[in-house]
Amino acid sequence: MNKGKDSLSSEAITRLHGVAIVVGDKSVSHRALILSAIAEGSTTINGLLHSADVHATLNALRDLGVKINILENGDVEVIGVGMHGLCQPKSQLDLGNAGTGVRLLMGLVGSQQISATFTGDESLSSRPMRRITEPLSQMGIQVSDDGRGLLPVTITGRSSPLPLSYNSPVASAQIKSAILLAGLNARGKTTVTEPAKSRDHTERMLAHFGVVVNTTTNTDGTYSAGVDGGAILQSNDIIVPRDPSSAAFLIVAALITQNSKITLPTIGMSPERIGLITTLQEMGGNIEVLNRREVGGEEVADITVSSSNLNGIDVPANRAPSMIDEYPILCVAAACASGSTLMQNIGELRHKEADRIATMAKGLMLAGVSVDETETSMCVHGTRAANNTHPIKGGFSISSEHDHRIAMSFLTLGCVSSDKIIVHGVSTIETSFPGFVNMMNSLGAKISSI
Ligand code: S3P
Repeated sequence: MNKGKDSLSSEAITRLHGVAIVVGDKSVSHRALILSAIAEGSTTINGLLHSADVHATLNALRDLGVKINILENGDVEVIGVGMHGLCQPKSQLDLGNAGTGVRLLMGLVGSQQISATFTGDESLSSRPMRRITEPLSQMGIQVSDDGRGLLPVTITGRSSPLPLSYNSPVASAQIKSAILLAGLNARGKTTVTEPAKSRDHTERMLAHFGVVVNTTTNTDGTYSAGVDGGAILQSNDIIVPRDPSSAAFLIVAALITQNSKITLPTIGMSPERIGLITTLQEMGGNIEVLNRREVGGEEVADITVSSSNLNGIDVPANRAPSMIDEYPILCVAAACASGSTLMQNIGELRHKEADRIATMAKGLMLAGVSVDETETSMCVHGTRAANNTHPIKGGFSISSEHDHRIAMSFLTLGCVSSDKIIVHGVSTIETSFPGFVNMMNSLGAKISSI
């Protein structure tokens, strides 16, 4: 098979240096489009992430009858259709690789008098959807799937679903958001309780559009968010912060590459998203968080990172929801650290774009790093020696398995490997971080086509 066009190699470099303007936040971008679509009036979104995943949501909303204009400066204007204004789509809604897009839109369609069939790419079509469709069917929404809980899924909504009080088995912002979106038109109060607080961008953005959201951190550590049915969203312009999950690759690249110093302005600092920064600081990472301020209802800060000698740690299990997307790149930092890094409570990684535990373990072992894994944990045995070198072997190739974060993690590891690391299936990077390769190379990386 000729994989050349969709493959990149990354090789050892001497330093990373400069300022990097990271792309907009993917989670916030999906929500900005979806909520402004059902608002009264038009909303301008500044800083939206123009990536394949977010555009899959944007195109699906257009297919549902929402007028969306992409302006020359990259801002996006959404002409809201109101709470009951979505139209029956003429064809299936193909969400590509976008897990957040498909799951939130299922909740949205569930509270409209329309029916829509959702499809996706190979990776999305293997991801569990019953975690969304089961609670939606408890709200009286009609659901049919492929018989195994996978896409394609058809949702036949109702204009006024039954309210629901739902105890989610996992801390998942996608589950929480889908149910709250369906609850906006329900006849009563809909509440989701999750075992720990997941990212709260939906709750914050609903409040930004004037909806009262009741949130509580309960005494047993669980978290609940509730909305009253019959809500009306009033349009309100949005500024999207820069994505901490995308910044994560640059942060780790600068930490593990000698003589490096980079600055990343205006990165989102939501407490439910920055577990990786805390973890890397505990590992000895020199990361400064400066100029904390609020932009558009979300906290942001400027981050400066310098090369550091990292040490392995036991990552607290209860930190997992706040860094769930960052374990692949944490594995790279852990591989370059001294001692072992234990990551627990991460069974959810097996249900992401790829099985991230298995795929990271496979690549790290090819790089000469030993890894232990269980169903819900992994332990990476770091390679940093007393003289601060880390003998990461290159000279191997690995498939991204349609997972952008796997692709970017191994390209980052290539910055310090003895021989090139080749990654196949790199077009998936477009789903979350278009421009990643140019940005890394402008800072000093050597990532090139093969
Ligand atoms: C997301 C929630 C997380 C995360 C995903 C984006 C979101 O998934 O992994 O990349 O925007 O709501 P879960 O909600 O399944 O944990």
